[in-house]
Amino acid sequence: MKHSTIEKNGSILLVLSLLVVTIGGIVEIAPLFYLENTIEKVKGMRPYSPLELMGQNIYKREGCNLCHSQMIRPFKDEVERYGHYSLAAESMYDHPFVWGSKRTGPDLARVGGRYSDEWQREHLIAPRNLVPESVMPGYPFLMQPLKVHDIKAHLIANKTLGVPYTKEQIDNAAVDLVSQANPDSDGAEDVEARYPKALVRDFDGKPETLTEMDALIAYLQVLGTLVDFSTYDAKANLR
Ligand code: HEC
Repeated sequence: MKHSTIEKNGSILLVLSLLVVTIGGIVEIAPLFYLENTIEKVKGMRPYSPLELMGQNIYKREGCNLCHSQMIRPFKDEVERYGHYSLAAESMYDHPFVWGSKRTGPDLARVGGRYSDEWQREHLIAPRNLVPESVMPGYPFLMQPLKVHDIKAHLIANKTLGVPYTKEQIDNAAVDLVSQANPDSDGAEDVEARYPKALVRDFDGKPETLTEMDALIAYLQVLGTLVDFSTYDAKANLR
């Protein structure tokens, strides 16, 4: 009875609707202002090395994130299949994020180390040679030389977005980019020192050329490997 009065009177309906939306808004938005930080701190996360960063750029360029997510949700089936659920900190250096919203293929947030570099290369060139039922397209052209106009500028751009690259990392970006795919180079050890847990090796089986494949595999192989979950205590981070 009362409800029909409200429904028939436009002004009352409008005022009451606004009231309801305002209450809803306050309940949802106000608490956010009292959170000091929505990203829990974890040990091990670091900015991407120049080669990994270029790999992520290729990942975005090719739209891998349209078929693959990088976001393991805290559900039993996902955690059993992919590993520990994703932490916010693990994607805090991604600009823009590559969480993805569709899984035509599996989640890749922890694919690092799951396969050999050789497997990754063969799979990217011709997925059906390894997984006959795969619907993933092949990317044989990734064996072309990696063209980077100005890697320093990429790091600086990320720094302006909040990624804490040091001056040393920025100044040495061009050398580090090449050294990471060449374990015999003079700069190889520096890459490991500047980017802990960085993998330094020839990723694409073609040591004489730095290819897009090197960059993409360097990136895939580091995904999910930075945080040491043996020392991570989820409960200690709950407030
Ligand atoms: C059309 C959708 C599609 C696109 C685009 C796509 N993939 Fe896939 N991907 C799949 C499917 C489906 C599978 C599962 C079958 C297989 O292993 O090939 C897969 C599997 C994978 C796997 C193995 C994952 C695992 O845990 O077994 C990796 C790594 C991978 N893709 C990387 C990439 C990368 C890198 C790109 C971009 C260069 C890419 N994919 C683009 C659909 C896609």
